[in-house]
Amino acid sequence: MKKILYIEGDGVGPELIAHAKSAVDSLAKVEWVRGEAGFATFQKTGSPLPQETIDSAKKCDAILFCAVTSPPNILNYKSAIVALRKELDLYANLRPFVSLPNVPVPYSALNFAIVRENTEGMYSGLEKREGDAAYATRVITKKGSERIVRFAFEYARKKKFQKVTIVHKANVLRISDGFFLELARNVAKEFPEIGCEDAIVDSVAMRLVKNPQEFQVIVTTNLFGDILSDEASALIGGLGVAPSANYGDKYALFEPVHGSAPKYTNMDVVNPTGMLLSTAMMLEHIGEKKAADKLSSAVKKCYELGIKTKDVGGSAKTSEMVEKIISLF
Ligand code: NAI
Ligand code: MG
Repeated sequence: MKKILYIEGDGVGPELIAHAKSAVDSLAKVEWVRGEAGFATFQKTGSPLPQETIDSAKKCDAILFCAVTSPPNILNYKSAIVALRKELDLYANLRPFVSLPNVPVPYSALNFAIVRENTEGMYSGLEKREGDAAYATRVITKKGSERIVRFAFEYARKKKFQKVTIVHKANVLRISDGFFLELARNVAKEFPEIGCEDAIVDSVAMRLVKNPQEFQVIVTTNLFGDILSDEASALIGGLGVAPSANYGDKYALFEPVHGSAPKYTNMDVVNPTGMLLSTAMMLEHIGEKKAADKLSSAVKKCYELGIKTKDVGGSAKTSEMVEKIISLF
């Protein structure tokens, strides 16, 4: 039986993870292992990510995570999820964007994905302050670039997408993004059956609003991917509906795109869609493709029936939506 480490985290995390576990238990047999991380864990144990959680993660087949609160006012406090991505070398952040029925957004049939490099680029942690100036070092490596672009093309191949868009700013960041682009174009040659275009990040930001149907798989560096993927989540209904996965060569972690939404803790009002669609991605990863399809189809059906939470124009409670989804399996 596959072992899943679940990390509830803070805020709305515990309630959403409980819903995700009920959905999985109605669809497949898995062994649940509990792991602690986040601000409440820090208050209890002095660490936001205890070694025990990292050790358990390495022994499991997948990790199901919701969100953690990262208070900005504690010196040297590190977000547990950022640390976990680093510990497990989860270099590929994958966010699929698939339109749901009955969501008040301008586009209705979107289906594309953003693959974001998760370990280097602008978020390498190399920042310093010197007198009246501050510096951040942007790191682009051959290994980091090749593996993320290869991941994007392999994903395109698996999901039958016909085109990958390499997003960069090589016209200005001539050395670092020039290098990324050169490496990316070389990797693209390994996938002759998949189309490849490259595009400058600011124009992609514009095209995502104006013509998002043009995209299939976008691959880009850390900072650009962070920004473009939050922008893209608005196209399908916002943070509450967007799922994501973080993959490395050995481990994989699945989490909704949103944070811990602390003001909604235990109010039974947040949208469970991002959490449940991330759970479907996890089921597919552990070989439960049928269960994964049942879960994503039931989510879609629930929207077709107009049963949805307030953030996407409905009036259902979180628990009502989850109960309906489970009844549709
Ligand atoms: P957030 O994603 O928690 O909330 C942003 C906005 O989206 C809020 O208006 C919230 O009400 C809404 N929202 C979030 N999830 C929703 C859902 N499922 N359904 C409906 N509406 C939803 O981001 P925010 O407020 O910037 O951060 C809150 C805390 O979460 C912070 O401590 C932050 O550090 C943490 N955070 C954690 C992340 C993670 O663990 N991966 C990611 C982002 C933020
Ligand atoms: Mg973000």
